Amino acid sequence: MVLGTQWGDEGKGRIVDLIASRTDLVVRYQGGNNAGHTIVTDGKKIILHHVPSGILRENSLSLIGNGVVIDPKVLVAEIDALRSAGYPVSPSNFLISERAHVIMPYHREIDLLREKRRASGRKIGTTGRGIGPVYEDKYARRGIRMLDLTEPEAFRNRLVSVMAERNAYIEKVLGAESLDPERVYEEYVGYGEVLRPFISDVSAIVRRSGDEGKRILFEGAQGSLLDIDFGTYPYVTSSNAGLGGVFSGTGAVPALISSIVGVAKAYTTRVGEGPFPTEESGEIQDALRREGEEYGATTGRSRRCGWLDGVALNYALRTNGVTAIALTKLDVLSGFEKVKICTGYGYNGSVTKEFPASLSVLESCEPSYEEMDGWDEDLAGIKSAEHLPPNALRFVKRVEELTGVPVWIVSVGPQRDMYLELRDCVVSR
Ligand code: GDP
Ligand code: IMO
Ligand code: MG
Repeated sequence: MVLGTQWGDEGKGRIVDLIASRTDLVVRYQGGNNAGHTIVTDGKKIILHHVPSGILRENSLSLIGNGVVIDPKVLVAEIDALRSAGYPVSPSNFLISERAHVIMPYHREIDLLREKRRASGRKIGTTGRGIGPVYEDKYARRGIRMLDLTEPEAFRNRLVSVMAERNAYIEKVLGAESLDPERVYEEYVGYGEVLRPFISDVSAIVRRSGDEGKRILFEGAQGSLLDIDFGTYPYVTSSNAGLGGVFSGTGAVPALISSIVGVAKAYTTRVGEGPFPTEESGEIQDALRREGEEYGATTGRSRRCGWLDGVALNYALRTNGVTAIALTKLDVLSGFEKVKICTGYGYNGSVTKEFPASLSVLESCEPSYEEMDGWDEDLAGIKSAEHLPPNALRFVKRVEELTGVPVWIVSVGPQRDMYLELRDCVVSR
């Protein structure tokens, strides 16, 4: 399993692509097209929002689990874009769970209208993709599932009753114009036709593949600090981005998960609002953003940047039972005279190593840092630990000491071959 240990954009897509060369199946378990997972191959940059990051590997079947929410229009465009880029997508290498919920136009509308209405300082800074409202409808038992799009009569009846409720909310509470159910029906039944060949019982495939001893990789979206339960609530996304999401989101059983790879950037970024204790301002933030090209893969927004937060990282590793770290973007730290890792939060005269649930504590705590000498060398071509500049290796070792979790992969560039493995592979070849 691969999951993000920060606020998303840790490089999950890049790590999943790497591991997927050694697996039979890649299964996305939660989130929707709020995700933007980037893979750089042969000089081409591919950004995936819905389709699992295993799709570029011929050996792997890519599956979307029931915990994912799907915007069919975006998915159809993504399939087309992959085909034009030379990656064939067909039901022989890509399937979608019949139980996955559908992001409808009213979900996007509600998401955008709510964000617009929120006073500044109270905005979540969502991606505007309808993620909160679609999960809300799922739990309120008024959702539309992929399967529904393929059963026109039942779909129409359900849509009419659901939209009566959502339209009343849009008009009366949000003060906007309601949407026409007939038009929505026509459009979405069309997506049902196009996507029908891909719609399948994904949990049964996962179960069967497990029984057959196939190697399955579960791909998370967002990150543990955006998890609806363990993240910086309410500045989170609306799904379980962490460990729990994999079980409800794919039908996997615990015995299927032999290792949990936590992807962590060598520094921290966050896009959208919410507390971020190690956020920098000025030259450090600018340099991290510039060198790391920290602009959102989905919305293009500038990402907020700061030093690695060891307190938050330890919390994420513990809540997810992470067994190995994939440390990404170490190359971005090249050229800093000093590099820092936060090892505690100062609050009310004392220092804690626990990640607090309270927003006000998080917002006002003072990170305490350990400072280390930096390095100047370009890390791009390095393939083994002994070739790393000593200070870069010291940084990696310090991450292991502070977390007690082994670093398996160090990624030193966006291209496929720009990484080194520090120990035996956690996934058998
Ligand atoms: P994800 O959402 O976790 O998959 O991450 P994103 O794709 O949103 O953001 C990660 C960005 O960093 C992408 O542009 C990747 O191409 C890039 N990236 C991944 N690993 C590395 C690395 O080790 N070094 C550098 N310089 N870039 C990387
Ligand atoms: P990947 O998978 C970074 C953030 C949004 C916002 C909050 C809620 O690429 O790591 P939402 O639209 O989900 O309701 O927004 O979550 N967010 C992400 N930030 N990477 C992501 O995905 C994100 N998906 C959502 O910016 O703060
Ligand atoms: Mg991303």
